Amino acid sequence: MSESNLKSMNELVSLSKRRGFLFQSSEIYGGLASCWDYGPLGVELKNNVKNRWWKAMTFREDVEGIDASIFMHPTTWKASGHIDGFNDPMVDCKACKARYRADQIELTKPCVTCKAEGQFTEPRDFNLMFKTQMGAVEDPSAMVYLRPETAQGIFVNFLNVQSTMRKKLPFGIAQIGKAFRNEISPGNFIFRTREFEQMEMQFFVKPGEQKDWMEQWKELRLNWHLGNGLRKEKLRWHPHGENDLAHYADAATDIEYEFPIGWGEMEGIHSRTDFDLAQHQKFSGKKLEYVDQMDGNKKYIPYVIETSVGCDRAVLALLCDAYRLENEGDKDNERVVMKFHPSVAPIKAAVMPLMKKENLEEPARKLFAELQQHYKVEYDTSGSIGKRYRRQDEIGTPFCITVDYDTLEDHAVTIRDRDSMTQERVALDQVKKYIQDKFGF
Ligand code: GAP
Repeated sequence: MSESNLKSMNELVSLSKRRGFLFQSSEIYGGLASCWDYGPLGVELKNNVKNRWWKAMTFREDVEGIDASIFMHPTTWKASGHIDGFNDPMVDCKACKARYRADQIELTKPCVTCKAEGQFTEPRDFNLMFKTQMGAVEDPSAMVYLRPETAQGIFVNFLNVQSTMRKKLPFGIAQIGKAFRNEISPGNFIFRTREFEQMEMQFFVKPGEQKDWMEQWKELRLNWHLGNGLRKEKLRWHPHGENDLAHYADAATDIEYEFPIGWGEMEGIHSRTDFDLAQHQKFSGKKLEYVDQMDGNKKYIPYVIETSVGCDRAVLALLCDAYRLENEGDKDNERVVMKFHPSVAPIKAAVMPLMKKENLEEPARKLFAELQQHYKVEYDTSGSIGKRYRRQDEIGTPFCITVDYDTLEDHAVTIRDRDSMTQERVALDQVKKYIQDKFGF
């Protein structure tokens, strides 16, 4: 059996629309550039990713979760450096007015949109934060920003969490939430969008211990991606050299995935020193120190190891990684199959009565109701069994369970495995256990 991987992002965009993973935002109005809506299967996939992350990061003694507000006091962004420094260099083509990130194009080459030569404006800084007004008064003092990262909601709550949860260093705070950046050149499906979701964790440590913790978190985070089912050879580290480091970081590395557009950052692991807490202490006038009872009540500002993964990029990597085209060109045997790991697969099993006949539907409905208590399952009656298998393959359902006329005699069903396409006869009262044993959950 021959199989190939995803060749272009366009294939994924059309499968996503056809099968209900992702739709263009406000499509009936012609869409809104680079904004996407998760459909019924996309939201299941995304929720599975978020739940796996939440469990891995907060079901431990030394990490607590929060859910901070998207709007924050505007001074937050002064302190964090986003008002003064969160800029990308932007240029415009003088001929057609197309706008580019100066660091992403070659300014000596013709404009890729209109092909005019030597027509770019001088690069100028463009701040990526979205602004809006809070309240009824349109006044500069009522201006607020949509957060460009979730991290600052964690820093400003450092003392609240530490004191209410009686935490001792080292400990972390995790959250999942939306972030907004007015990207100059968004694109490549959900790789770079202006509204996206981050899953971030700040781990506060005693100064001097950051190197060890950085290594520990690097290993944990890579293993988390592998546990989602991503293939090892599609993942790599991209350590930041001295010259690429942000001014506040003493070490940083990215986890990259090989997308059809090339290698791209999926997660950043950063050693951020005491920069953020020190800045918030300075701008708020509130002490953000930790009193170390294990070290003679010494007071200091903790150092931070941050792990920051884009939820949408993690979803995109899973969609790209799962895609397989088998037996291309062989009319009878060609199929697209999404080989999701069972833990992230949107639908875990599909129950299919062979025909829409009451005597088959009754045991099928009963089995569906039983499985539904444990897993997200589908009840699928539309079209031939072959067509139903094809759809379930394309949405990555690990098992299809057929209730047929023999079921009425032997009280058993046929379970078809998505990847091997082999079939097994399993007793009706053993189906849940069969799935549980195969999945391990
Ligand atoms: N608090 C650190 C921080 O925000 P970042 O490298 O700017 O670091 C972290 O962002 C992650 O967020 C990235 O690795 C990426 O997965 C995701 N991300 C950033 N900008 C994005 C965008 N415009 N669209 C989708 N995901 C984005």
